[in-house]
Amino acid sequence: MKTLLNLSVAAMLLAGGAFLYADDDEHEEHENHRSSRVAQPVTPQEKATVALYTKECGACHMAYQPQFLPKRSWDKTMNTLDNHFSTDATLDPADHKTIQNYLATHASKNDRMSDMKGAVALRISETPYFVREHREVTKKMVTQPEVKSFANCNACHTQATNGSYREREIRIPNYGRWE
Ligand code: HEC
Ligand code: HEC
Repeated sequence: MKTLLNLSVAAMLLAGGAFLYADDDEHEEHENHRSSRVAQPVTPQEKATVALYTKECGACHMAYQPQFLPKRSWDKTMNTLDNHFSTDATLDPADHKTIQNYLATHASKNDRMSDMKGAVALRISETPYFVREHREVTKKMVTQPEVKSFANCNACHTQATNGSYREREIRIPNYGRWE
């Protein structure tokens, strides 16, 4: 993973609450400015942590960028890995601790992001900002076998595993580019 997050995503996530109401075009305008605030793994230790996270949390689905949820959501996930969306995703204690710290360190600082009418969201795909960004994506596009669910970001975002979600990189299976 070269960058943990790129450009337009950074714009959306790091703008704090503002992105919830911002016009879509704004992402492009400010992307360079905001991308400079994105953390990247630098030291060998950080790189090893990202590799561990990618291996363990990328085994069944892509390893989601921590910036997509606040710490409280990640903590909830990490505290319920024995029943993780009906799977067992438990880790050995040392890895568990490393990954939980990694997620907490790089989480969104915006707690409001995962507010589900008082409950704390576990899913990126159920958060209000996500729903808003994907409101024009039809149900058929998502439920088709090549995608299955919104959890499979990389089925449509061809550079998602590299942390890049730019519109020009979107290819929806059986539909093509997003214009
Ligand atoms: C044993 C398989 C497995 C492993 C390992 C696993 N997950 Fe998952 N995860 C799932 C399944 C299944 C879902 C639900 C996918 C769906 O709805 O299509 C899921 C969904 C998620 C979602 C919600 C995606 C959305 O809809 O926004 C998050 C966040 C998540 N996992 C985080 C993690 C983290 C963090 C780890 C590592 C600690 C991890 N997962 C490891 C199986 C796994
Ligand atoms: C079915 C295909 C599909 C899946 C699966 C999907 N997306 Fe998207 N996503 C889109 C489309 C299409 C857009 C552009 C929507 C628009 O502009 O109206 C988009 C927009 C975005 C944006 C905004 C990009 C920008 O430049 O403004 C982000 C960030 C994003 N998606 C993240 C995710 C994440 C994270 C996941 C997985 C948890 C995911 N998406 C799953 C199709 C998908």
